[in-house]
Amino acid sequence: MSQSKDNVTLAPADGKLGVLIPGMGAVTTTFIAGVEAVKRGIALPIGSLTQMATIRLGKRTEGRSPKIRDFVPLASLDQLVFGGWDIFEENMLEAARHAGVLDASLLEQVKEPLAALRPMKAVFDQDYVRRLHGPHVKEGGSKMDKAEALMEDIRAFQSANGVSRTVMIWCGSTEVYHTASAVHQTLKDFEAGLAKSDPDISPSQIYAYAALKMGVPYANGAPHLTVDAPALIELARDRNIPIAGKDFKTGQTFMKTLVAPGLKSRMLGVHGWFSTNILGNRDGEVLDDPGSFKSKEETKLSALEQILQPDLYPELYKDVYHKVRINYYPPRGDAKEGWDNIDIFGWLGYPMQIKIDFLCRDSILAAPLVLDLVLFLDLAQRAGMRGVQEWLSFYFKAPMTAPGLYPEHDIFIQLMKLKNTLRWMRGEDLITHLGLEYYD
Ligand SMILES: NC(=O)c1ccc[n+]([C@@H]2O[C@H](COP(=O)([O-])OP(=O)(O)OC[C@H]3O[C@@H](n4cnc5c(N)ncnc54)[C@H](O)[C@@H]3O)[C@@H](O)[C@H]2O)c1
Repeated sequence: MSQSKDNVTLAPADGKLGVLIPGMGAVTTTFIAGVEAVKRGIALPIGSLTQMATIRLGKRTEGRSPKIRDFVPLASLDQLVFGGWDIFEENMLEAARHAGVLDASLLEQVKEPLAALRPMKAVFDQDYVRRLHGPHVKEGGSKMDKAEALMEDIRAFQSANGVSRTVMIWCGSTEVYHTASAVHQTLKDFEAGLAKSDPDISPSQIYAYAALKMGVPYANGAPHLTVDAPALIELARDRNIPIAGKDFKTGQTFMKTLVAPGLKSRMLGVHGWFSTNILGNRDGEVLDDPGSFKSKEETKLSALEQILQPDLYPELYKDVYHKVRINYYPPRGDAKEGWDNIDIFGWLGYPMQIKIDFLCRDSILAAPLVLDLVLFLDLAQRAGMRGVQEWLSFYFKAPMTAPGLYPEHDIFIQLMKLKNTLRWMRGEDLITHLGLEYYD
């Protein structure tokens, strides 16, 4: 395909891509160990669109379906270099063993790169994650001093590893629920707030600020606020940097966004949707705190209402009773179990029930999302795209959008949007699925 057709100038993915991760626990170690295993041919990158999916181009009769990674220039796994921060100083091999997600035999085969990777000292605030106490933190100074220390970490990482570009993705614990306040309204307010250590600025926002100031795209894998605030969106736009969030769409909400659009597509009603989970990893322990749970509850609840659109379909969805529970249950570790009971109704109002019992593995579902987000955010940066990247909604429970726009939660619409954005980048026809031309 000729370069001249492209709608945007796509800088090549030359050189190393630095991947900086605040929070190096279960998801991060499963992601990094997985990349190392795939590089060595030990396992396949299952669950990753950038590595496995194809994209149809042109008409169905043309037979053009390249792999996404052959269609747009993405960094390869060999080009990735990892670094990050945690409040615990254990290296990535110890952290992976602690997380208990991957088998000892798999970890044994990738132990060198994992053992060589040690987190940098974290910016942490007990008021934002109440259940964790870690010693490996930056002490003293204002929040602005902490942001500057993080920028110094980023510079040191970039020069030590000789990276050409860097992205940051939050895989740290979920912070307590908070909404944008006065200090988050403009960049000026935010910077003044950093200087006087305003309590409304969370640690994740200090990382995000440091990243954006350094020209580093930022994605938020957790449900808390971070870049979903006017001041940081302003900074991202001013600096021409892409941002994305919030909260990886994995276990139960992934199921919800598969099933709910299907029910709605057939105009079947919903009386109630009860979702409960048991999980026993550190994430579960953090979410046992009501403040952190509230952040998660908000993102989990919002998806269903926005898919069902009760305002448009009051007879079907006006009074849906929607409940979400997360129970910390240590024996399960990362092997979460999520139950859904859905009370639906059909023709003439006759009731029916659906039960889902998803015995999933949280970090196994999240790791490929981290990989895709890292590669796509870097692509967006090279394509000159800035601010909120709504085309990456596919990966999030609570997708960020432009102010006043409701987020699109239906996973199939999200996928179409993602693929059409890639087609648009390369000047290919967008696929509308009209298809009348086949019958002329
Ligand atoms: N696994 C999934 O399916 C999934 C889905 C959606 C969202 N998430 C979110 O991803 C995040 C990571 O999940 P996990 O299972 O890896 O949790 P985890 O507890 O294993 O890892 C989180 C790590 O973050 C560290 N941390 C906390 N605050 C920090 C800070 N300020 N700076 C640096 N490090 C900090 C903790 O010490 C911990 O090691 C959580 O917020 C979780 O809610 C996970």
